[in-house]
This record gives sequence, C-alpha cells and structure tokens, in this order.
Amino acid sequence: HRTFYNDALLPETHRIFKNSLRELVNEEIAPLAAKADEEGKFPMENMRKLADLGVFGLVVPEEYGGSNIGTLAYAIAMEEISRGCATTGTAVTGQTSLFIKPLLNFGTREQIEEYITHYVKGDRIGSFCLSESDNGSDAGAAKTKATLKDDHWILEGTKTFVSHGTLPGDMIVMATSDKKLKHKGISAFIVSKQHESCIIGKLEKKLGIRGNPTVQIKFEETKIPKDRILGRQGYGFKIAMTTLDGGRIGVAGLALGIAQASLDCAIKYSTERKAFGIVLSNLQAIQLKLADMQSKIEASRLLTWNAAMLFDKGENITKEAAIAKLTASETATFCSHQAIQILGGIGYLQDMPAERYYRDSRITEIYEGTSEIQRLVIAANMMSTYNV
Ligand code: CAA
Ligand code: FAD
Repeated sequence: HRTFYNDALLPETHRIFKNSLRELVNEEIAPLAAKADEEGKFPMENMRKLADLGVFGLVVPEEYGGSNIGTLAYAIAMEEISRGCATTGTAVTGQTSLFIKPLLNFGTREQIEEYITHYVKGDRIGSFCLSESDNGSDAGAAKTKATLKDDHWILEGTKTFVSHGTLPGDMIVMATSDKKLKHKGISAFIVSKQHESCIIGKLEKKLGIRGNPTVQIKFEETKIPKDRILGRQGYGFKIAMTTLDGGRIGVAGLALGIAQASLDCAIKYSTERKAFGIVLSNLQAIQLKLADMQSKIEASRLLTWNAAMLFDKGENITKEAAIAKLTASETATFCSHQAIQILGGIGYLQDMPAERYYRDSRITEIYEGTSEIQRLVIAANMMSTYNV
C-alpha cells in the first residue's frame, strides 16, 4: 500500500487525521476490498471502524457528537478510504453527504436528535432516493407521489438505484405532491425502513462497486407521520440540489482515491517488471503515462481541496464542486485505464487490483450527476457570473 502525496499545504490537524486514517485503511479496510467486490457483500464492520476514528462526525457539530473539522477533512478522508475500497467510499459519501448533511441542514432539532447518533456511530446507513426509472438526470421530473391525508403523508411510486437500500437505516425520499408545479411540487421526507412499509427490489448486478447494494424501492400507500417532512413543503428539489453540491466534493475525493490507487499499483509494478531486459519504469513510453497520471491527480486534488475549502468558508460552490467532480472522475477513469495498460495482461486479471479500479472508477462519472450534467452545471453557473 505504498502511496504518497505532498500534504504540506494541509493544516497539522488534517495531516494527523489523514495519517491515522491511512493506517486504518491500509491495515483493515483495503484488505477486505477484493472480497467485498467478489462476494457482492457490503463490509458493514468498516462503518463502525470509521466511526470510531470520527469519520462520520467530520461535518457534524460537537453538540451532536461530531468534531466539525469540516469539508476539507471530509474530502481527504474520502480519498484515503476510497484508495483502499471504493465500495466503502461510496457508503461514506452516502452516509455523510447524502444523509447526515441534509438532516443537519434542513432537519428540525427533534429530527436531528432522533437520527443523528445512529449515523455518527455508523450503526445505520442512510439512503438518498432521488432517481426514478424515467428521470435520473432530469431529477426535477420526479413522479413518486406524496399526498397529505390527516396527520400522515402517503407515498406512492418507485425510486430506482437506491444505494444501500437493503442495509439497516433510513432514507431521504423526494416525492411530489403536485406534478404540475414541476420541481416546486417536490418535498423531501425521512422514511424509515424499520417502521414504514416499502417493497425492496432485487439487488442490481453491477460493473463495479459491487459491495454496495443497489435496489429499487417501491412505495405502495406507504404512510409516514406528517412531521417527517424534511424542510418546507415544495422545497425538496432545492434540498436535493444543495445536498448534491456538497456530495460532489465527496465523489471527487472518492474518484481521487481510485486514481491514486491506480497510480500506486502502476508504479509498484513498473519498477519491478522487466521487458526487453529493461525495468518498465525506465521506458519513456511508460514514464509518460505515469507523468500524465500524476499530473491529472494533482490537478484534481487541488480542485477538490479548493471546492472543500470554499465550502467551509460558506461560499456558494455549485460550480467548483461540479468542476472538482468532473475532473476527478475523468482522472479516475483515465488512471485506471492506464494502470491496466502499464500492467499489460496481468492488469486484466483479478490477480491484480487494477481491473477492480477500472470497474469501480466508471461509476464516478455517473452517480451524483453524470459528467454531462456536471458540464451543464459548470456552464450555467459560469455564464451567470459573467451576466451579472
Ligand atoms: N443549489 C440550490 N438550488 C439550485 C441548485 C443548486 N445547486 N441548482 C438548481 N437549483 C434551483 C434553481 O435555483 C431553481 O430554483 P427556482 O425554481 O427557485 O428558480 C430550481 O432549482 C430549478 O433549477 P434548474 O431549472 O436549473 O433545474 P433543472 O430542472 O434544469 O435541473 C440539473 C438542473 C442540474 C440538471 C439537476 O436536475 C441535476 O443536478 N440533475 C442530476 C441529478 C443527480 O445528480 N442525481 C444524483 C442522484 S443521487 C446519487 O446518485 C447518489 C449515489 O449514487 C450514492
Ligand atoms: P439519464 O438521465 O437517462 O441519462 C442518459 C445519458 O444522457 C447520460 O449520458 C446523461 O449524461 C445524458 N444526458 C441526460 N440529460 C442530458 C442533457 N440535458 N444534456 C446532455 N446529456 C444529457 N440515485 C439516487 O437517487 N440515489 C442513489 O443512491 C443512487 N445510487 C446509484 C448507484 C449506482 C450504482 C448507479 C448506477 C446509479 C445510482 N443513482 C442513484 C442514480 C444516478 O444518479 C443516475 O443514474 C444518474 O444521475 C443518471 O441518470 P439516468 O441513469 O437516468 O441517466
């Protein structure tokens, strides 16, 4: 697990945290990654180990059991964890960006107090249900229905691609009470798998991140108490968009982790393997690939840290988060592709982790908004700055 980046730009607190997390990942998380991938089983014990180190409290105020060190530390954690296991990284972003953050940002004090401890401790894992079969990118076209009846909301419809939908935990579900209002009809609800009736579909079979269970969740007259609306009625799309702004910094960190793991693996192999009597890393054709990988990774890391630091300063980071996610995810697919190329035939075999990095990297260009959607977000926010 030899890995390296220059962390001199980071505050001391962040460097110390990164180093202890790196030790945990190298010793306990990375060794389970291939098994989770092969068996398609989520290593739930990783959640508790990460919780013990304070990972789920990084963006949680002290009054709720967190350390509130901030988004930069979270981005660094996402990279370290995903370098060892992108499945675990996906669970951490689902937990932190997509459940803990919207709960803290939009929940009432009662709602926060009811749920937060389970998530900071890592004994439940949250889900975020935005996508539907007819609308993934066009998230404002949600048609899962929410009807208020006496003191309950009734949910009807199916959410697709629900990450961690089979694991113990609660879900934030976006549903519309008036489709004619388009995105303004959407509200967000906290739905508990433990208490509310919902039909959990079969596990999707996937190219990568195979340890993360992905399912459809169907609501058939699912009754949830009126006070489980998150934020105001009609505010659900804004909640989803604001949540995804922060989430995209997490995915950028995740993608960076896969990219860095690909580079580490390529460097190790290329310094040991000989072709034509020469160590691969002494061949210029290989050095050029390694240099491109390193350059893209460093650029992506700075973009990710930039978005995270601006976020911590309270700035609007819609554009910066989209740039970081787009660049880091394309870096991950590039680096994992090059890693297989540098390894040659063995890179294609499961004997080496490069093929898993290649499969895992692909999702980073799709979830939490595809690369095309990131470009749309960047363009829209860029133009609006010029237009004011
Ligand atoms: N922050 C706050 N508000 C925002 C916003 C943001 N980043 N982006 C848009 N809005 C607001 C707008 O201000 C506008 O508000 P008003 O109606 O008050 O004016 C409203 O939302 C509608 O804006 P748009 O017209 O720009 O919205 P749109 O319908 O054209 O969609 C989009 C914009 C960027 C394409 C959006 O639909 C999008 O992000 N799609 C991708 C969906 C996505 O990322 N899904 C991820 C699912 S979760 C997941 O994948 C998790 C996982 O894997 C673990
Ligand atoms: P579509 O929207 O149908 O897009 C198809 C293609 O068209 C893409 O290339 C897209 O970029 C392009 N496209 C669409 N619109 C435009 C446009 N206007 N301009 C240019 N190109 C465009 N969702 C959740 O809500 N919660 C989850 O937990 C979750 N987990 C996921 C886990 C996995 C493993 C996967 C695969 C997906 C997950 N998703 C989740 C769903 C994910 O966010 C969507 O798949 C993604 O947003 C794209 O939506 P779509 O699949 O409907 O593609």
